[in-house]
Amino acid sequence: MSIQTSQGAQFARIMSVGGSRGSRVVDNAEMCTMIDSSDEWIQQRTGIKERRWAADGEDAITLGTAAARTAIERAGLQPADIDAVLVSTVSHFMQTPSMAAIIADKLGMPEPAAIDLSAACAGFCYGVGMADSMVRAGSATHVLVLGVEVLSKYTDFTDRSTAFLFGDGAGAVVIGPSDVPAIGPTLWGSDPTQHEVITIDDWREERPHGEGPFIHMEGRQVFKWATTFIAGKAREALDSAGIPPEELDVFIPHQANNRITDSMLRHLKLPASVVVARDIVGMGNSSAASVPLAMEALLDSGDATSGQTALMIGFGAGLVYAGQTVLLP
Ligand code: UT7
Repeated sequence: MSIQTSQGAQFARIMSVGGSRGSRVVDNAEMCTMIDSSDEWIQQRTGIKERRWAADGEDAITLGTAAARTAIERAGLQPADIDAVLVSTVSHFMQTPSMAAIIADKLGMPEPAAIDLSAACAGFCYGVGMADSMVRAGSATHVLVLGVEVLSKYTDFTDRSTAFLFGDGAGAVVIGPSDVPAIGPTLWGSDPTQHEVITIDDWREERPHGEGPFIHMEGRQVFKWATTFIAGKAREALDSAGIPPEELDVFIPHQANNRITDSMLRHLKLPASVVVARDIVGMGNSSAASVPLAMEALLDSGDATSGQTALMIGFGAGLVYAGQTVLLP
């Protein structure tokens, strides 16, 4: 007697993408009423002109549900067709139930596998790698991968070194079977020795009513790691998919800082024809949501088109990273 194992599709692909942004627009002038800074400094250091925050009546669940609904519709599927929901978030106020289970309920999914993952700004690319493996191994046919953040609720407005950075939004993709290779190898890993470089406060600490646990970051240290080590990993994610730089169409790095993106571009030596995501300018850093939101924006604007090759790379608290080369939905 031997145990039967599951068998999946030969290949997986991103079938669709959907996004939802906080509807409150906070420009740098408004930000500078909260912290001692200037529009000029924020734009020069990061590229950010304005960020999107959840307005009254919006939260992680409403944003995540809206993004998921769009992605499922664009895939030509019904919520009941989704076998597994993976939500990457560091903005869920409850340890349990998972945000994945709550969003699955809002969408009326009957019985999907539902799980949250905590890989911060790399979480979406972690989720894509996991969903790709699940579809090819046969443990799911259609996987909804979501990045959902409401980081404005975790922002310490007495800390001017981080307060201007963050935005609120959700991005979703559906990953399913494919006739052709469409998701390259996921290159992922971590530097656990740097686990204290970006943190969210211990939730057990008592706080005044309504005050969230706050994000803390050693910005310069992350900056250095991202522009040296991570840039090399992005190159590996391209090489391992067998795509020469001159055949890459689109580069979608985590939207942490335009200067990090510029530095990665120099390192990667990509041709000038490559379309580069700059969604941070109007969105801020939305952690796990930043890559799918940037992908949706490029497709919606026509700057990128379905079937093009795109290199994605996420990096952040852990410190963790993940990236892969994909065909755009
Ligand atoms: O998403 C997860 C991954 N996160 C990242 O990848 C973030 C990586 N880090 C960064 O993007 C950058 O480090 C920041 C944008 C966070 C900060 O930019 P920076 O160029 O590294 O600034 P800094 O911390 O080195 O500060 C430079 C100067 C300091 O003044 P001195 O010491 O040179 O006199 C700061 O006090 O700028 C000062 N400063 C500010 N000035 C005006 C710090 N924050 C501000 C501010 N406005 N908001």
